Amino acid sequence: MNFVFIIALTTVAVFGQDQYLKKYAAGLDNNLDLLDQGIPNTELLMSFVVFRHGDRTPDEEELKKYPMDQKYENIFFPYGTKSLTNKGKQRGYLVGEYLRGRYDGIISKLYLPNEISVRTTDYARTKMTVLTALSAMYPPLPAQKWNPFLSWQPIPYSTLPSADDDLLYYYNCPRYHDLRKQVYNSPEIQKKFKPYEGLLKLLTIKTGANISTPEDVFYLDNLFQTLANVGVKPPKWAVEVMSKIKEVTKIEYGSEFHNNEMIKLASGVLLADVLNATRALINGDRDQPKLRLYSAHENNVAAFMAAINVFKPHQPKYGSTISLELRKRPLTDQYGFTAVYASEGGSPGVVLPIAGCEEESFCDYNAFVNLTQHVVLSRSDYKNVCFPSIR
Ligand SMILES: *[C@@H]1O[C@H](CO)[C@@H](O)[C@H](O)[C@H]1NC(C)=O
Ligand SMILES: *[C@@H]1O[C@H](CO)[C@@H](O)[C@H](O)[C@H]1NC(C)=O
Ligand SMILES: *[C@@H]1O[C@H](CO)[C@@H](O)[C@H](O)[C@H]1NC(C)=O
Repeated sequence: MNFVFIIALTTVAVFGQDQYLKKYAAGLDNNLDLLDQGIPNTELLMSFVVFRHGDRTPDEEELKKYPMDQKYENIFFPYGTKSLTNKGKQRGYLVGEYLRGRYDGIISKLYLPNEISVRTTDYARTKMTVLTALSAMYPPLPAQKWNPFLSWQPIPYSTLPSADDDLLYYYNCPRYHDLRKQVYNSPEIQKKFKPYEGLLKLLTIKTGANISTPEDVFYLDNLFQTLANVGVKPPKWAVEVMSKIKEVTKIEYGSEFHNNEMIKLASGVLLADVLNATRALINGDRDQPKLRLYSAHENNVAAFMAAINVFKPHQPKYGSTISLELRKRPLTDQYGFTAVYASEGGSPGVVLPIAGCEEESFCDYNAFVNLTQHVVLSRSDYKNVCFPSIR
């Protein structure tokens, strides 16, 4: 009977109705096997999840990239600059539904503080995103219902001060910027970027701003995306060159994590935390949070993907979610990691191959440690390298 049910669900999945599947999966034992073709017969033990905030309004920096355009009236109202829109809140909620579906086996339906840890960067949009996600993950059961008219309960998160947040390396780490400048000037990237000289001239004339690096083009790309979020369509000249703008955005993402030192500065501390916690768990410490959420930015999603060897240059979308899951094969006691990516809030998780591992969908624990040893960074080394003045 169960078997028939599973076959029916699998058939549904094959036809792409994964939302349907996800709803039902929550009620099934061992449902994760069903969702993750390629990692059957593994027990999920712990997961580290980095996601991008939801859709947002533009910020002043981005608008500066387009000074010649007319002044937009009221585009920030009622949200304010660089803030989550209502669509962005819905996106965060979708992330939460996805996480509840996927991690129902390791977190209780009751909010039990020891099971989950939640960290955000010090931005309104990442905090608001995780609040909407948590509201989807933990609608209160009777034991935690405190207001009969409200299907919501408070769940806390923690936030490091911006100035020493390793997730904000792209603001905080001058060494990272030096490295990126070197990459921009390298023959490889220069060669890739050369065909876009005409585009740069055009963008500089049309916007009235100095558009000269892949990063400048990428900011402009972001500006058009965020303006679209508040209902402002890009101008005709921009629509005509949009595909080229997107190509440069890809070059930018290829430059950001171009070598091990950049990856290390961008995500090495997080990776060190992953290895420390999973090692402790394997050694018998079962009291740690099993689900660890990091509500952050596209750079963090990309950086973590680069650190775990699953990144292909692209700009992660709103609500994109990368998970690194510690799993175990009960029969052999073998531990390993699986990487799962939902490419935007609301899309299903897909197992990504971990490059360099013999078994790409279940990378043996020790093989993974070997593979990533060059990009692991202790918090104190991060501080020494990135905050030389404080040292
Ligand atoms: C534009 O910016 C680039 C790099 O930031 C700089 O080298 C160049 O001099 C600037 N051009 C103008 C006209 O300001
Ligand atoms: C490593 O993990 C243990 C067990 O969870 C924890 O007590 C310790 O603080 C962690 N160390 C670091 C440096 O994060
Ligand atoms: C890890 O690397 C060491 C040294 O390079 C090697 O001896 C060992 O076999 C590797 N282990 C795995 C599991 O790949």
